Amino acid sequence: MAEVITHDVLILGTGLAGLRAAIEIGRRLGDKVTMGLVSKVQIMRPHSVCAEGGTAAVLREEQGDSLDLHAWDTVKGSDFLADQDVVDRFVGLCPKEIRLLDHWGLPWSRCPNGRIMQRPFGGHSYPRATMAADKTGFFEVQCLYDTLLGYDTFSRYDEVFVTELLIENGRLAGITGIELTTGRFLVFRARALLISTGGLGNLFGFTTYSQTVTGDGQAMAYRAGLALEDPEFIQFHPTGLVPSGILMTEACRGEGGYLRNALGERFMEKYAPAKMELAPRDIVSRSMMTEIMEGRGFEGPRGLDYCHLDLRHLGAQKITKALPLIREVTMKFLGLDPIDTPIPVRPVAHYSMGGIEADIDGRTRAEGIWAAGEVACTSLHGANRLGTNSTAECLVWGGICGESISDYLKDAPPAADLPMERVAEEEHRLFHDLLHREGSEDLFAVRNDLRQIMDDHMGVFRTGESLATGLRKLQELKARAEHVSIGDKSSVYNMNLVLALEFHNMLLLAEISMMAALAREESRGGHARTDFKTRDDTTWLKHTLATRDGAGPRLDYKPVRLTKWLPVERKY
Ligand code: FUM
Repeated sequence: MAEVITHDVLILGTGLAGLRAAIEIGRRLGDKVTMGLVSKVQIMRPHSVCAEGGTAAVLREEQGDSLDLHAWDTVKGSDFLADQDVVDRFVGLCPKEIRLLDHWGLPWSRCPNGRIMQRPFGGHSYPRATMAADKTGFFEVQCLYDTLLGYDTFSRYDEVFVTELLIENGRLAGITGIELTTGRFLVFRARALLISTGGLGNLFGFTTYSQTVTGDGQAMAYRAGLALEDPEFIQFHPTGLVPSGILMTEACRGEGGYLRNALGERFMEKYAPAKMELAPRDIVSRSMMTEIMEGRGFEGPRGLDYCHLDLRHLGAQKITKALPLIREVTMKFLGLDPIDTPIPVRPVAHYSMGGIEADIDGRTRAEGIWAAGEVACTSLHGANRLGTNSTAECLVWGGICGESISDYLKDAPPAADLPMERVAEEEHRLFHDLLHREGSEDLFAVRNDLRQIMDDHMGVFRTGESLATGLRKLQELKARAEHVSIGDKSSVYNMNLVLALEFHNMLLLAEISMMAALAREESRGGHARTDFKTRDDTTWLKHTLATRDGAGPRLDYKPVRLTKWLPVERKY
């Protein structure tokens, strides 16, 4: 029998966006409301801690940076698919977030004169990456959690895997989950919910993401009837460490690092002569893959051919001070010291520009439900995100959603009644159908196959033929997925059950993103089709919306909001 837990507001996912929202609600409503913070990991272990290079903000207007320039860089970087009113709001709020975190104790890197330091990043025309060495996300999460502890109106539900979002008559009705430490089935009710569960990078085999990032929030929202926007746009970060995929932060290049091919050439001068290694990620990743595919890469393990990220000319002092994590990781994982040896890197799945459709306040189409951070698509990043705009987005929309939820709670109706029949069905599905399923398929094998299909068919370059083949393979995998058995039948920390639930979420999202990619017959930002090589603003200057329709996704489209800038050719 399910245990029912009720709060005024639930925050699902405790990365940067979730923690920032919780603080905002605490600041505005104090003990007038209770909050439940629900996370599938321990509260301090969200993937946000892995953010390295920085957080974008305009802090030096007197020296030539401006909000308009940050907005223009973001819109041009997005290949003109960003909604420009959203971009304007974002750039205006980033500086405030940096200062708030400064007041809350974040140890930003400093200039000798004591000012907050900023460094260059790809696609930004001014050095506006605000950082704490190369461990920015780690310090941001620590700082936000410490600040949140000042509000004693929240309860933690660590290590709860949420399985379904319940929406009744267009309004939040609750969420269901499994408490991993005990195996108990939990049901949460609330007047408001923020979904801030992060990205979906484990759809890919070669990825910068933690194993926990499996798109659970997007998948449950989609199943509950919400739309996923722009799911075809996946970002490949240029520099994933070979062979693990660990992020070699763009700050390596921001600090002056070079990319070289096997001939020792700084090949970016052919592709982006003005910006070189600091062109936006979509362009650098395509350039690297072109070098590799044309035979100018180094031969790597498991087909992971690579280029070199060369930091040697930066010198020991700069590397140890500005990039300590990079040095630690390359030494631990490859026994390689970047002070005297180039780092093997290749493009790696890093971010999804798409997510749950949300308006400029982070509201979804269901009453009482907001989404913020990577799980959401407010249309800030369009077809390609600029580095450091993601942690900034989490902070900005964490704050915006916290404010919007606080306003809503002032006169929101009581929590809706739970749909008990749905709850019972979910309990039966989890603990009867799924847990006791016996079959011939191995869970780990199908999970690996899924990630291989995504690596092979949804990579940096795509073609209609390859996407169609990928979709066919996904259909076969779906059939096999029905025969996956759960080896572990126990209650406590049943990670077999969790992996199976994650796998079904990933499989669903893989199909949706591939269908949307097949439909979009143009190249824009992170979506590069070699059979449709150019951007087509006449037909495709529009957002994709994928919604559940019977068994499969239905694709619709909506216009991009252009307020200041019309699309032009992107040159760097
Ligand atoms: O390269 C990096 O440090 C990543 C930053 C980002 O994705 O924004």
